[in-house]
Amino acid sequence: MDYHWKNVKPYIILNCASSADGKIALPNRKKIELSNTEDFERVHNLRAKCDAIIVGINTVIEDNPNLTVNEKYASGPNPIRIILDTNYRTPQNSKILNGESETIIIIGDKTVDRKLPNVKTFRCGKEEINIENLLQYLNQLNINNILVEGGETVIWSFLEKKLFNELNIFISSVIVGGKETPSIAGGKGFLDRKKILNLELNKFKQIGDGILLTYSKSNN
Ligand SMILES: NC(=O)c1ccc[n+]([C@@H]2O[C@H](COP(=O)([O-])OP(=O)(O)OC[C@H]3O[C@@H](n4cnc5c(N)ncnc54)[C@H](OP(=O)(O)O)[C@@H]3O)[C@@H](O)[C@H]2O)c1
Repeated sequence: MDYHWKNVKPYIILNCASSADGKIALPNRKKIELSNTEDFERVHNLRAKCDAIIVGINTVIEDNPNLTVNEKYASGPNPIRIILDTNYRTPQNSKILNGESETIIIIGDKTVDRKLPNVKTFRCGKEEINIENLLQYLNQLNINNILVEGGETVIWSFLEKKLFNELNIFISSVIVGGKETPSIAGGKGFLDRKKILNLELNKFKQIGDGILLTYSKSNN
């Protein structure tokens, strides 16, 4: 199944909260709250407007997020939770299994299925989930707006393939440090200077004590 970007167009927003030095978690990969209240309101309003939310399995394991719209910050329907989990490592106590919103775990073509509650699975890829084919599947489900919330490996995959419309980075006024600390974009990185990804800065806005940067792909 080939993915034709021009024919299939879910609107894709990549979103993350970072420290001033570009880190998105603690050096031991544990979760750190980098958003302030205003930013949480922005993110939860975004969740309420999107049809689906995508995260990688390591984020589920490390952070155990609920990935729903928290009524403390916003109101609206919960997006469908989509988890990229080639080897079906989702822990049994994960909040994403709580049935609070529709959840689809995307697993490898040959991965052994498991009986976990309140989830469907969809097979899509060999060594890792094939994002182009996944987007085609989500398009068939009438998913038109997708919020990708991390972590660094998943954000990298979408950036590397230029599969995004917006990149939102909230920068908190803190330094985390650490050379192994997860950053906004992980993965292999661009090894060739000519291949680094050019962005267009569309907006910058102070939100409380932090700043929100909104980028799109550059045409250059
Ligand atoms: N501050 C923020 O905004 C924010 C948000 C989210 C997460 N985080 C932090 O990010 C860290 C987790 O990041 P992470 O990079 O370790 O994990 P991740 O991006 O959450 O998950 C990566 C894993 O997803 C699976 N995967 C399957 N197909 C993939 C594909 N095509 N592209 C990318 N991944 C694919 C792979 O595991 P398999 O091979 O097993 O399938 C891969 O190792 C945590 O420390 C968390 O706290 C921060």
